[in-house]
Amino acid sequence: MTQIAQRLATLGETIFTEISQLALAHGAINLGQGFPNFDGPDFVKDAAVEAIRAGHGQYARMFGIPELCRAIAERFATDTGLSIEPDAQVTVTSGCTEALAASFLGLVNPGDEVVLFEPYFDSYRACVAMAGAVPRFVTLRPPDFALDEAQLRRAFSDRTRVILVNTPHNPTGKVFSRAELDLIAALCRKHDVIALTDEVYERLVFQGEHICLATLEGMAERTVTLSSLGKTFSLTGWKIGWAIAPPPLTAGVRAAHQFLTFATATPLQHAAVAALRAPDSYYRDFLAAYRTRRDLLVDGLARIGFEVYPPHGTYFVLADHTRFGFEDDVSFCRHLIEHVGVAAIPSSFFYATPEHGRSLVRFAFCKDEPVLREALGRLSSLAGR
Ligand SMILES: Cc1ncc(COP(=O)(O)O)c(C=O)c1O
Repeated sequence: MTQIAQRLATLGETIFTEISQLALAHGAINLGQGFPNFDGPDFVKDAAVEAIRAGHGQYARMFGIPELCRAIAERFATDTGLSIEPDAQVTVTSGCTEALAASFLGLVNPGDEVVLFEPYFDSYRACVAMAGAVPRFVTLRPPDFALDEAQLRRAFSDRTRVILVNTPHNPTGKVFSRAELDLIAALCRKHDVIALTDEVYERLVFQGEHICLATLEGMAERTVTLSSLGKTFSLTGWKIGWAIAPPPLTAGVRAAHQFLTFATATPLQHAAVAALRAPDSYYRDFLAAYRTRRDLLVDGLARIGFEVYPPHGTYFVLADHTRFGFEDDVSFCRHLIEHVGVAAIPSSFFYATPEHGRSLVRFAFCKDEPVLREALGRLSSLAGR
């Protein structure tokens, strides 16, 4: 019998752990969890080695080393045009995951309502539960995962404390449009709501434009912008993330961060400075390589017979599996791992109402081209079904 506290007991183990273990046991190619099978750039790794050799081995300043807070503020100013005070508005965390947890624990009171879009990255649900808050869901539906204005309006009330917006969005690959973000911003202003924006895929936009919610009218003072190094620099294991917010909201984030982890790995913070000062060519090449991988997987899945919803951003693609005749997404993914040799994530785990995701599976394309080709080769055995 496990002894998990009530507030977490219903959430179970994350689906990523389960699928990765099954994939390993069956020698399946793992297109499930979103980590690259290639390494980050040498100039960032070299900076980490140098920092370790230089003796940066003790606790860092609680909210981040001064150089990194400055580099994050400079990057943010270049990308968004918003000028921020590094020591007062940036908090360095152990990945975006910790930034999310610190934001929820430091800003949300038990009983507050939180608006989430489903499908969602699974840690959001857990953060809401850990904060003792009440989730209100708005469903993004295929084929285009457009925002349902009426449903969004209904989700807001005088008890709403936070809305969490993830753009570009995992798992749909949706990039929220300006009109959608304008609507969200208007509702935040009307109901005096804090926006948390998870922008870890900000550099992976193939179609449309990444818009930082904080840049919209009246939003800088009510938005916590979260991001991290992991996706953009193919270093998901480093877990360097951050939260950018006006001082009153930063106070909440730091109130929790100081007791969650206190500080983040010092030498990796030094290396993150080098990463954030990467030339524009780094970001261009990074996006171009992902565009090639996206096209390869999207076209390949469509040829095999999936109904594919080509992502506008992120390194994930959702596909409808129903024409292959399986009962649901879980039985389809089990078959894929055990008999086809490819792992994908059953999408029902991304929904509060699992039925909404039963027809969909998520594939990750943060893998090099030979691996993607091999996976497509294996998946082509489905075509005859
Ligand atoms: C939407 C989203 N947010 C946050 C994270 C986690 O970011 P980090 O590795 O920086 O904690 C992920 C990782 O998959 C993600 O997909």
